[in-house]
Amino acid sequence: MEFQFIIVEPDFQPHIALVRLYRPKELNALNLQLMLELKQALSALDENESVRCIIITGNEQAFAAGADIKQMESRTPVDLLKIDQFETWDQIRKTKKPIIAAVSGFCLGGGCELAMTCDMIIASESAKFGQPEIKLGIMPGAGGTQRLTRAVGKALAMEMVLTGRFLSAEGAQKAGLVNKVVPDEVYLDEAVKLAGEIALMSPIAVRLAKESVLKTYECSLQEGLHFERKNFYLCFASEDQKEGMKAFVEKRKPDFKGY
Ligand code: CAA
Repeated sequence: MEFQFIIVEPDFQPHIALVRLYRPKELNALNLQLMLELKQALSALDENESVRCIIITGNEQAFAAGADIKQMESRTPVDLLKIDQFETWDQIRKTKKPIIAAVSGFCLGGGCELAMTCDMIIASESAKFGQPEIKLGIMPGAGGTQRLTRAVGKALAMEMVLTGRFLSAEGAQKAGLVNKVVPDEVYLDEAVKLAGEIALMSPIAVRLAKESVLKTYECSLQEGLHFERKNFYLCFASEDQKEGMKAFVEKRKPDFKGY
């Protein structure tokens, strides 16, 4: 897959695809074209049977320093309405396969929102998270006020959103925003390790489980439990369920095929 602002490796590791945000001079600022490319790439990887887990990363200096301010500077509300750039973000959220953000350096504004749209975050020790939009006279617009609050709680989210203060990798882990913090040299390896573990599971069960966890954001506990139960029953329609349980009984590792 050839793109201008991202690099996609569908076969980065067995069953693991890597998407690298690639605007290094601009600290991977997310312009419209990059987000469109990301949407297209994720949609293709979602369709690709050999891919079971996706990693999105940037470089050591920046995961992404936010939406492209230069591109936004002269926009009017009507422009924004017409472009409706967050529609692209909604599509990314709909990716069925698990996505891990491997974050180093700046992870700000739309960059932080993109990382939070992913399912898990592995951070390097030098990662810095923040929603500094308030310093530009605006506010987060791609889920920052909602996902950050759910992840770290009201007090810290309010502080970050209203002051633009950054949160260190260590702070982000303490607050529950990231899964793990590791030395800078190994943050991508750590993400690959996590992806590799998920890739060994039944892709059908993984898909249904991801869908069920995300449902928490959208409904009452009662509805969520009902949804979970249906997905649990649905797992039993797969060959992978039979293989998983047979392997347990036979005391061997399962070989999940994805059907
Ligand atoms: N948009 C466009 N360009 C950006 C950018 C952004 N979000 N962030 C950095 N850049 C560019 C800089 O303009 C600079 O380009 P030039 O060399 O052409 O001047 C280059 O990247 C390097 O940046 P700096 O020289 O500023 O690097 P630094 O190390 O001194 O500072 C930084 C790094 C603290 C991250 C600083 O660049 C910064 O504050 N960036 C903006 C962060 C921000 O406000 N993000 C929120 C954007 S709005 C948003 O995301 C809305 C939303 O909810 C979707």
